[in-house]
Amino acid sequence: MLDLDALKARYRELAGEEPEGLWFAPGRVNLIGEHTDYNDGFVLPFALDKMAVIAGGRRDDDQLVFISLELGDEIWTPVSELEPGTQGWHSYLAGVVWALREAGHDVGGANLVMTSDVPLGAGLSSSAAIECATVATLADLYGLDIDPMERAKIARVAENAYVGAPTGLLDQAASTLCQADHGLFLDCRTLETEHVPLPMAEQGYEMLVLDTKTPHSHVDGEYGTRRATCEAAAEKLGVPALRDVTDLDAALSQLDDETMVKRVRHVVTENERVLKAFDLARTADLSELAPLLDASHASMRDDYEITVPTVDLAVDTAKASGALGARMTGGGFGGCIIALTRAGEAERIGQDIADAFDEAGFGEPVWFTVTPAPGAGRLA
Ligand code: GLA
Repeated sequence: MLDLDALKARYRELAGEEPEGLWFAPGRVNLIGEHTDYNDGFVLPFALDKMAVIAGGRRDDDQLVFISLELGDEIWTPVSELEPGTQGWHSYLAGVVWALREAGHDVGGANLVMTSDVPLGAGLSSSAAIECATVATLADLYGLDIDPMERAKIARVAENAYVGAPTGLLDQAASTLCQADHGLFLDCRTLETEHVPLPMAEQGYEMLVLDTKTPHSHVDGEYGTRRATCEAAAEKLGVPALRDVTDLDAALSQLDDETMVKRVRHVVTENERVLKAFDLARTADLSELAPLLDASHASMRDDYEITVPTVDLAVDTAKASGALGARMTGGGFGGCIIALTRAGEAERIGQDIADAFDEAGFGEPVWFTVTPAPGAGRLA
């Protein structure tokens, strides 16, 4: 639970005055479209009602002061000394200041005191929440006129160039652009978006999010390796990106590397699933999405090879317990699964997964239900 009184109190203790405002940005769940973003493909995430909140105010001494109620206390850095590659939790905020300045925006010193209830390392974009909340804060503090897609891109530059994680735009776009009760369809090449209604409660469904507590990170090698294989495959196939593969069988017959075949098959079929999900969500009962969620999981498990035993057990148990569809969400190698369930069943299914984990000797998972929440903005 977020403690905004504690946040403001810590700000007052630092600055001797009230913050100029409070800004927030949420974590996200990706409904479908995994590892498609950096292949110029399609994604369909929605924002969580878990978020990073920043109490912010300008300083006139050119210093940045970062505080996180959860992660660490008072790091001081002069704006002129921001250095890409700096490690630590504050690099997600510092990186945004750096990226804004690189983009030509006149940003100076600031006090940035943060709190967040987005679970860390769970594949729910805790880092994008921090980055996007920082963009929102600094844009208002320094009167910058930056449209929402540009904000997402700046947050991504912070992640890629400053923090050093070679991710796509999915997380930052979701955290910035999502709307309540809607999913965000994003074409990662054209950057066209459409807000798709996801009336889960209205149609009698719930979305369970279960954190397997198997931590993951994108700064390590596996994510980058997947990305490099996709780029190499696109080059071999003579297309700008795997998004441009239109005849899967023909493409696969041109590849002799088994790993590359699998990676390409995942990306191409996952893009197709996102497009189907996009159509269905616009016109049909949401339960029709369920087979797509299942197929996406199988593809991540067998072709992209980014699931782990805890995640697979969670998905299999969810299905055996009556979930309509289930899949891992996020970058992989741990983190969370989502399961579409009938209303009133999510809690029991979460408990069934916890029991299965216990039996298998895995640690205790954490679970909750979610409804699509709004993207970044000003709280107060
Ligand atoms: C992480 C990255 C995203 C995306 C997903 C996989 O969340 O930050 O850019 O690639 O993994 O879909």
